[in-house]
Amino acid sequence: MRLSHRALSMQESAIRKLDQFVAQAPEVHFHKLNIGQPDVPTPIEVMNALAATDSPVLAYGPASGLPACRKAAAAFHGRTSPGLGWEHCVVTQGGSEALLFAFCALCDPGDEILVPEPYYTNYNGFATVAAAKVVPVRTRLDEGFRIPSNDELDQYVTDRTRLFLFANPGNPTGAVYGEADLRRVAEWARSRGLWLVADEVYREIWFTHRPMSALQLEGHEDHVVVVDSTSKTFSSCGLRIGFLISRNLTLMERVERLGQARLGAQPRAQNAAIAALGLGDGFYDELRAVYRARVDAMMDALAEIPGVSYHRPEGAFYTMARLPVKDTEAFARFLVSEFRSTTMGRPESVVVAPGPGFYANPREGRDEIRLAAVKRPEDIRRGIEVIGEALAAFGG
Ligand SMILES: Cc1ncc(COP(=O)(O)O)c(C=O)c1O
Repeated sequence: MRLSHRALSMQESAIRKLDQFVAQAPEVHFHKLNIGQPDVPTPIEVMNALAATDSPVLAYGPASGLPACRKAAAAFHGRTSPGLGWEHCVVTQGGSEALLFAFCALCDPGDEILVPEPYYTNYNGFATVAAAKVVPVRTRLDEGFRIPSNDELDQYVTDRTRLFLFANPGNPTGAVYGEADLRRVAEWARSRGLWLVADEVYREIWFTHRPMSALQLEGHEDHVVVVDSTSKTFSSCGLRIGFLISRNLTLMERVERLGQARLGAQPRAQNAAIAALGLGDGFYDELRAVYRARVDAMMDALAEIPGVSYHRPEGAFYTMARLPVKDTEAFARFLVSEFRSTTMGRPESVVVAPGPGFYANPREGRDEIRLAAVKRPEDIRRGIEVIGEALAAFGG
């Protein structure tokens, strides 16, 4: 029987590909620096709200989310972007579904989405489902992954280009785009008739300066869409609650219809999200302190390995590191299936995300890996030490 072109062209997750090797070696202690799944405990307020129930039925919720959850999202974003109302915020099943809805609402089949590369791999999957095409805009580790000039951006625009998508802070780059960049790109996008979609799921995790939200761009209300999520900020990846936010009410009405087709996000999870969004400033200070310590440990440990270059993240909790090897996919496989460090008296190895998975062309990023600072600092330090040992054993 025939499967659709769409199903056949969905790519396998580059990050999860190595899991089978890990499962085959239960005796090995693997330092999992490959996925953005933090081990930070979920706030107790979120857990309590999730457990509380006042109804004997797990009922449907409204397509665009519980009014209280939409209001909580508006109030949360309103702290930096005044004037937002519940009608500008739709609750989705994670930031993932907000991205999918944005692509479906803004692109027709064959339309193009510009994205600074390297980029979050799942953008490809959402684009495939929406029958749109990701067009990578190359940025470079040596240049801090900055967004290219307007002239360079123009070279990527065709009559099928519909939107410019970027993550701020960035995954996998850790780059934070400043206000000047944001204003420039927003002006550029508007002058080319493009939507600006800002993926802000790491918005509260920053180390140098608070990233400006695209919702703060006055004069751009009609073409800005923001994606947010409770996953990373509140260590609640399994809650599956995110938000699509825009002041363009014509778009929001269409997003409501997309939501009606799949019915609403889980109401109890939305109550937990309301509890999360109500946490005070102290929570965010603590969150940043936790990740700062982890990122510092990652930087210090990488500095010890000869021949490695990397970008110090300004936000989120990832870094792309360039290794002295020709093929990081082979190196990542070597780590999970062959290399075992015994210097600590037990077999240890590391799981890393090979660079090519973050590029549209898999021949790019072959000497890069992405590391996620999602474990305790001492575990990150040890994991990176093991990478150093493995590099010596891999030899090219
Ligand atoms: C840049 C970026 N956007 C969106 C997501 C999706 O997050 P979720 O669907 O859990 O909200 C992730 C997850 O890792 C991400 O890194």
